[in-house]
Amino acid sequence: MQIVNINLKEHSYPIYISKGMLNNLSCYIEKHLRSNKIFIITDSNVSNLYLNILEKSLELSGNNTFHTIIKAGEESKNLETIKELLEECYRHELLRDSTIIALGGGVVGDIAGFVAATYMRGIDFIQVPTTLLAQVDSSVGGKVGVNLKNGKNIAGAFHQPKAVFIDTGVIKTLNKREIRGGLSEIIKYGIIRDADLFNYIEYNLSEILNLNDDMISHLIKRSCEIKGEIVSIDEKENNLRAILNYGHTIGHAIEALTGYKKYIHGEAVAIGMVCAAKIALNRKYIDVSYYERIKSLLKASGLPINYGNLNKNDIVNLIKHDKKNRESKIKFILPKCPGKVDIFDVTEDEILNILN
Ligand SMILES: NC(=O)c1ccc[n+]([C@@H]2O[C@H](COP(=O)([O-])OP(=O)(O)OC[C@H]3O[C@@H](n4cnc5c(N)ncnc54)[C@H](O)[C@@H]3O)[C@@H](O)[C@H]2O)c1
Ligand SMILES: [Zn+2]
Repeated sequence: MQIVNINLKEHSYPIYISKGMLNNLSCYIEKHLRSNKIFIITDSNVSNLYLNILEKSLELSGNNTFHTIIKAGEESKNLETIKELLEECYRHELLRDSTIIALGGGVVGDIAGFVAATYMRGIDFIQVPTTLLAQVDSSVGGKVGVNLKNGKNIAGAFHQPKAVFIDTGVIKTLNKREIRGGLSEIIKYGIIRDADLFNYIEYNLSEILNLNDDMISHLIKRSCEIKGEIVSIDEKENNLRAILNYGHTIGHAIEALTGYKKYIHGEAVAIGMVCAAKIALNRKYIDVSYYERIKSLLKASGLPINYGNLNKNDIVNLIKHDKKNRESKIKFILPKCPGKVDIFDVTEDEILNILN
């Protein structure tokens, strides 16, 4: 069992990481519960695989659990789902000291967290992330929320979990594409904060893609540490936390332009990371060999590195509407050397130039 502590003063919490921990979660969860009433929110894929195990484990220690299953997929991440779940919380008579558990990927985590943030002005919640992306990214840091019709993650809150339980074994049932999408975010951590992590992935890539237990544990732990460190310094994204958006400016635009259908998130971010690295190369912040390493590692991981036949003007127009661009300047996270990035203003022409 490995533990990573996220230090956020009165909102601090531990992340427990261990293979097979779903079976004996009750040993660790008790001290994070204020009553024995637990509402599990999961989705239609994860429920078939892991809901029983979790419920059994919780009921063994005398908890009163009930669950709800939402339809798997990003389409569920909307305000209608939130309304239904809030009504369900009330029907089940959840109180201020009850706990909501999110069992699933980032979609379930964002939804369940938002319900927990708003029900009775905020009740406790616990993350049990089951995708690699959720284990290394979305379950840590307290951003929760849902999409509006034309705006991703626009309705939301900051609501930190009481604890995160990562069973590294559950990603065995994920398809390879989802694994690669999660790996994309891990590579991002290497680029923004940890050159050794980047080297480690380069060196061990084939075993990582075969889900070598020790390596996967190491990657998840290191990712949680890095995200935790950044979030501890800047919980509400006033400055440093923005570096987590490396690759996301162009990535988000590509996802939106393709209707969130053609690319999964980590794939779009991979393309965005190559584009941002190219801008850094043009500005001579990084040399060509580091640029090539970034590109090669993403490609060897089975991730896309080109935006295909999208219109580059459409990409730039969407970036200009990105909610992260204050004062209409285009902000980009650019690499400066292995393990280090910074925030810069980038011109429209520079972006068009690298998209050529
Ligand atoms: N809050 C944050 O800080 C943050 C950060 C990054 C991403 N996100 C959000 O996360 C979401 C994406 O998360 P995701 O990639 O986990 O997608 P997801 O939750 O849709 O999961 C992907 C698919 O895998 C299935 N699945 C989950 N666990 C499984 C398992 N162990 N075995 C087999 N199948 C499994 C799900 O049912 C789903 O079909 C997006 O909505 C994104 O906005 C949030
Ligand atoms: Zn991301």
